[in-house]
Amino acid sequence: MILGIETSCDDTCAAVVDDDGRILSNVISSQGIHDAYGGVVPELAARAHVERCDLVVADALRTAGIVLDDVDRIAVTQGPGLVGALLVGLQTAKALAVVRGIPLVPVDHLEGHVLACTLAPLSFDPPFVALVASGGHTFLARVDDDGRIQELGGTLDDAAGEAVDKGARLLGLPYPGGPALERLAGDGDPTAFAFPTAKGVKGLDLSFAGLKTSLLYRIRDMGEAEAERHRADLAASYLHAVVETLAIRVERALEATGTDRLAVGGGVAANGPLRERLRALPASVAIPERALCTDNAAMIAAVALRRPALAAGDVPGLEAYGTGQRPPAPVA
Ligand SMILES: Nc1ncnc2c1ncn2[C@@H]1O[C@H](COP(=O)(O)OP(=O)(O)OP(=O)(O)O)[C@@H](O)[C@H]1O
Ligand SMILES: [Mg+2]
Repeated sequence: MILGIETSCDDTCAAVVDDDGRILSNVISSQGIHDAYGGVVPELAARAHVERCDLVVADALRTAGIVLDDVDRIAVTQGPGLVGALLVGLQTAKALAVVRGIPLVPVDHLEGHVLACTLAPLSFDPPFVALVASGGHTFLARVDDDGRIQELGGTLDDAAGEAVDKGARLLGLPYPGGPALERLAGDGDPTAFAFPTAKGVKGLDLSFAGLKTSLLYRIRDMGEAEAERHRADLAASYLHAVVETLAIRVERALEATGTDRLAVGGGVAANGPLRERLRALPASVAIPERALCTDNAAMIAAVALRRPALAAGDVPGLEAYGTGQRPPAPVA
């Protein structure tokens, strides 16, 4: 039985997963306090994690019908993310591990997004090519039999989720923009406007900066009243370009690697049109249910099924690493 804990951004998450990758509980407490600021405020996120983390862990255990004594391993997000937010989950996990003598597995959040599809009922095991499109990262990777991840290409500027959120903001939608943009796009025509898909970026790298700028200029050129009238068409066409930018690279990656197995993860993979587009590819495609695409602790536990636990003596010195940083070397 694995207890997963995830606090890298603004969702306080805990989950229980059994040794066969079945989810017994997956508790996600969305803070909902950042909307007024148009983005996550790191200090507020960390404080909200402090208030909720113990309650969320207790809820995950209760929902799974187990007690701490039944937990064989604790998996916790070590990074990347907001350091203050990460520290709350990390301290909670370390305290439980030390006091109860439970082995601790530090987990990279992005590996969680890559391996979310290995959980039941999908149970889609490597090898495969993975696309992760989340709020802070977007990349393609090759995942070998052991779950080792080798990056094949990534974004040269914004992440797909960032492009989604910035586009949504330009169209006057609240943060986080993804779900609202998808709803608005549902009433629009995805072929109404041609937005760039960075086709000129060769290989498996991606770019979203031109897309965002193109929407900004289009709205400015149309004028506010006209843009307001075409809001749904703009949303649908913009989202269509995000989907195509991703799908074109996925097609290239499958061809370049000669693979016919694709796993998809990250918050943007909750998007309906993207799911449809990728599922239509001539490959075996695994996209987890929406709640496993956005941040959750079940995916963190999934990684721990394939990674060794820390030596007990290394647990107290375990440190978080922020976005853009690499895991620190263990303290000797
Ligand atoms: N239905 C949707 N359509 C498009 N985008 C979506 C949808 N739902 C969520 N998103 C986007 O997914 C992103 C959040 O994904 P996720 O929770 O994986 O990111 P994160 O944890 O903040 O970033 P990272 O995992 O890179 O650290 C946001 O940008 C959000 O707008
Ligand atoms: Mg994430």
